[in-house]
Amino acid sequence: MFESLKKAYSPPMRFPIRKVDKDKCDRCRRCVEACPTYGLILDEQGYPVPHGYGPFESACLNCWNCVAVCPTGALTLEGSFAITQGRYKGTLEENMRFPEPLLGDKRPYGELEKELTEVEKVIYKRRSNRLFRKKAVPKELLHRVLEAARFAPSAGNCQPCKFVVVTDPKLIADIERDAMKVLRFLKNLYLAEKGRRPLWKNAIFSATSLVMPTKMDPRPMTAMEKADRSNDVIYWGAPAVIFVAKNTRGISNPDLDTGMATQNLVLAAHALGLGTCYIGLTIEPLNYPYMKSYRKLLGIEEPYELVTSIAIGYPKGKIDAAVKRDTPPITWIEGS
Ligand SMILES: Cc1cc2nc3c(=O)[nH]c(=O)nc-3n(C[C@H](O)[C@H](O)[C@H](O)COP(=O)(O)O)c2cc1C
Repeated sequence: MFESLKKAYSPPMRFPIRKVDKDKCDRCRRCVEACPTYGLILDEQGYPVPHGYGPFESACLNCWNCVAVCPTGALTLEGSFAITQGRYKGTLEENMRFPEPLLGDKRPYGELEKELTEVEKVIYKRRSNRLFRKKAVPKELLHRVLEAARFAPSAGNCQPCKFVVVTDPKLIADIERDAMKVLRFLKNLYLAEKGRRPLWKNAIFSATSLVMPTKMDPRPMTAMEKADRSNDVIYWGAPAVIFVAKNTRGISNPDLDTGMATQNLVLAAHALGLGTCYIGLTIEPLNYPYMKSYRKLLGIEEPYELVTSIAIGYPKGKIDAAVKRDTPPITWIEGS
């Protein structure tokens, strides 16, 4: 128990190795911009170099977005990400694989894709998009993706979701700025100062991880760092944001229903050539009393509660691509 708490603060982690082939890199900086964390920075010559964060030698979520956006194939990732001890110890198999949907068929994804359905192709190639064009998304398209959300399954068909579409850049920027004040506080609570870990911060962080285990995982801290260093940009410059709320009186598990409806929306958006990125960073602050006025503005009041938000817009360049993913445990229990 004590060990688990102690390691909650800065648990030992293994990171994938990111390598940049300078002969191939054209210094377009797309990988740096697309990285959700402060995990890639530019060196003096403008080449991307892996970067750490606070006590971690590297800041990488293993999402492969940098590889997906690289137009020249200059970036490679090897190995997996794993928290190896403590409260946030990983449960994945550390077996990174491209999509292998056809049982026993180990052909590269590019070769087997032609045998897949259109739905499967969108599922495998959708990537979180963090490079947006300034171009506004036509209302017809926003309507179209919201309509896809309406037809998601829900417990007892209770449809507990509410969607709020914001295309006002000022409101988006205001939310980012005020949410960042909370995130900055959290991040500074977590971050080691000048390489040393003040014990009182360690203790607070570890204790909070016990009460709110899903909220204090160290991984989002490095995304907060990136937002902090990018002038509070959390929505990646997207021209529209869709806030998603749940009716807290929904049947059984409205969070699950809301997630499924949102994923319908996201997949429909990618099938239509749009890019999306789930944004959770603003949600916690928005649900605090401190940001009540924004909830009022968004019309999120009893019985609704914000669950997530989606940055949506036209992607800048090619982003959707199949990448490797780790393998979660699967158990088969078959009759004889
Ligand atoms: C509930 C949820 C919240 C997320 N919040 C953020 C966020 O605040 N900022 C961000 O850049 N990405 C966010 N993401 C995107 C994840 O980082 C991303 O899905 C993950 O790294 C896998 O990459 P992929 O979506 O490209 O497959 C979030 C994803 C989910 C599902």
